[in-house]
Amino acid sequence: MKNSELKSSRRRFLKTTGSVAAGSALAMNFISGKSAFAMNNDTLKVGVIGCGGRGTGAANQALKADNNVVLTAMGDAFEDRISKSLENLKKERGDQVQVDASHQFVGFDAYKKVLASDIDVVLLTTPPSFRPAMLEAAIAAGKHVFCEKPMAVDAQGIRRVIAAAQIAKEKKISLVSGFCWRYHTPKREVFQRIHDGAIGEVQAVYSTYNTGTLWSIPYEEGWTQMTKQMRNWYYYNWLSGDHIVEQAIHSIDMGSWAMNDMQPKSAMGTGGRQVRIEEIYGNIYDHFAVEFEYANGAKAFHITRQQKNCSRSYHVEVWGTKGKAIIDVIKRIDEITGENPWRYRGDGNDMYQQEHDELFASIRSGNLMNDGDWMAQSNMLAIMGRMAAYTGQTISYEDALKSKEILGPAIDKYSWDLEYEGPPIAMPGMTKFK
Ligand SMILES: NC(=O)c1ccc[n+]([C@@H]2O[C@H](COP(=O)([O-])OP(=O)(O)OC[C@H]3O[C@@H](n4cnc5c(N)ncnc54)[C@H](O)[C@@H]3O)[C@@H](O)[C@H]2O)c1
Repeated sequence: MKNSELKSSRRRFLKTTGSVAAGSALAMNFISGKSAFAMNNDTLKVGVIGCGGRGTGAANQALKADNNVVLTAMGDAFEDRISKSLENLKKERGDQVQVDASHQFVGFDAYKKVLASDIDVVLLTTPPSFRPAMLEAAIAAGKHVFCEKPMAVDAQGIRRVIAAAQIAKEKKISLVSGFCWRYHTPKREVFQRIHDGAIGEVQAVYSTYNTGTLWSIPYEEGWTQMTKQMRNWYYYNWLSGDHIVEQAIHSIDMGSWAMNDMQPKSAMGTGGRQVRIEEIYGNIYDHFAVEFEYANGAKAFHITRQQKNCSRSYHVEVWGTKGKAIIDVIKRIDEITGENPWRYRGDGNDMYQQEHDELFASIRSGNLMNDGDWMAQSNMLAIMGRMAAYTGQTISYEDALKSKEILGPAIDKYSWDLEYEGPPIAMPGMTKFK
């Protein structure tokens, strides 16, 4: 085989490993180990779908994660988000940004065009409501995926994510999640110690994500109902999942990590919308409190608040029979007290960069990654907490995962003229569990 043919065959192999016939020499090499992949030093092409703050950040990190990677395609619902992101990325990464005009895709179908382009890796960084459909499409197209949290806003989305992650395993595609604390060295050390028994048996977890108010974009003359909601997606639960799913999910994920990703039995919760009452704040709550119960009797308590002029906290405390772990994001503490005292000393790593370093290293080596199982479960916990608070009911994990609720239109139904308001503000005791 000539050099050029070899290169092109390697590239095709990288993108379509899932469709490589089982039993072929190439597939055998790939599945069984590193040899075929380790030799691969082709340029990896990246596409980003959702070119806002996180998409731009993730693209920057992807471009730094490997010494032969370029950005070749961008997609967003809005043109202005692409041009701003492109400008920033060009400043940061210069020649690695090779997105010509024909590869800047705008609109609700932009994701299909990014995925149809000649990319190896895709970054999914839109609001989460679109994620299940985009993840399915990315994996069907054979792309390696960086998938921001949340992965879904409702249980049907989680079921789709679980199925897509399974297909990624079968197709030998890497799937890395944006649950960034799982890529933070100090957190990895403290949670490993918890799992190794440093605090004994875990009996209770308490986690918080209490913060102030966030961004909102003033409505402009001529915006359709859909434009208003898409520009301010955070405040519409059918787009964001509500703030317990969109933001507090990081603390809930760490709580689940402390429980070694054991599935909880049920959740009971409360919440409401006390100060966030203006129209621009859509239909989401501004506070939640949820109690998760585990089959072994352990409990996990979570509170989250987004209200200004209130005290802040973003932390996890884990109580065990031999001690306690404290993970405090604001105070930068990762510590164990009790029988086996320990404290992380040092600055820690850049967890956002780490996610991409590991993703690209996995693609190069063929030791593929798949965060699917635990990421879907952490996400489901946050959704289940929201369901419990919205309805006022105690909900089992089993029922929550089987829920028939579908937030938002199907992805192919979106248009700027679509009249869709989403569900009314939830009222505990009146809003029904579906
Ligand atoms: N892991 C973290 O620490 C972290 C931090 C920030 C954001 N995030 C996550 O990243 C995601 C994006 O957040 P953000 O802060 O970048 O928001 P953002 O509003 O800055 O960016 C989202 C972008 O997606 C675009 N978009 C919306 N719908 C789209 C569609 N159907 N097709 C293509 N593009 C679409 C928007 O126009 C926007 O440019 C969210 O899920 C958020 O939770 C994670």
